[in-house]
Amino acid sequence: MSSEFKWSDEYSVGVEEIDVQHKKLFDLLEKLRTAIHEKHGSAACVEILEELVSYTKVHFTLEESLMRLAHYENFEAHQQRHRDLVAEVEQMYQKIQSGGASISFELLHFLRNWLTKHILNEDMAYAKHFAATGFVQGQSVPAPAMAAAEASVPGKRKWWKFW
Ligand SMILES: [Fe+2]
Ligand SMILES: [Fe+2]
Repeated sequence: MSSEFKWSDEYSVGVEEIDVQHKKLFDLLEKLRTAIHEKHGSAACVEILEELVSYTKVHFTLEESLMRLAHYENFEAHQQRHRDLVAEVEQMYQKIQSGGASISFELLHFLRNWLTKHILNEDMAYAKHFAATGFVQGQSVPAPAMAAAEASVPGKRKWWKFW
């Protein structure tokens, strides 16, 4: 798998703040792809994978806060999906750390599917609810709701500049 990972309009959930974060996830995936492709070594790859896991957790927490604030009816199922996704990727990470798996194009393929399927299926569903209920106006979460959601995200400081 040597083609680039790039966010495109088909992944837009119609909410700018969320799209920015999804773009960041794609950027990290692309960074990992480049590191594998150009053989930067496993330490460099592990570091990027850690960044990806850490940013994913920040992103999921923010999404969950927004869904809660918007009284999204499928909030619990979506939160469970996030937990499953994190568990999956952490399992992968453990396997790599213990030498049971290597950072490979298979891992990239797994991460790409993991990310894109979730955005296209579950994230699109809450986005519809956000638009239909007026929680999102235009393409944006109103500032007070965004501030409330951001306040609930632990470890956001490290990633602050990304949104
Ligand atoms: Fe998302
Ligand atoms: Fe999500």
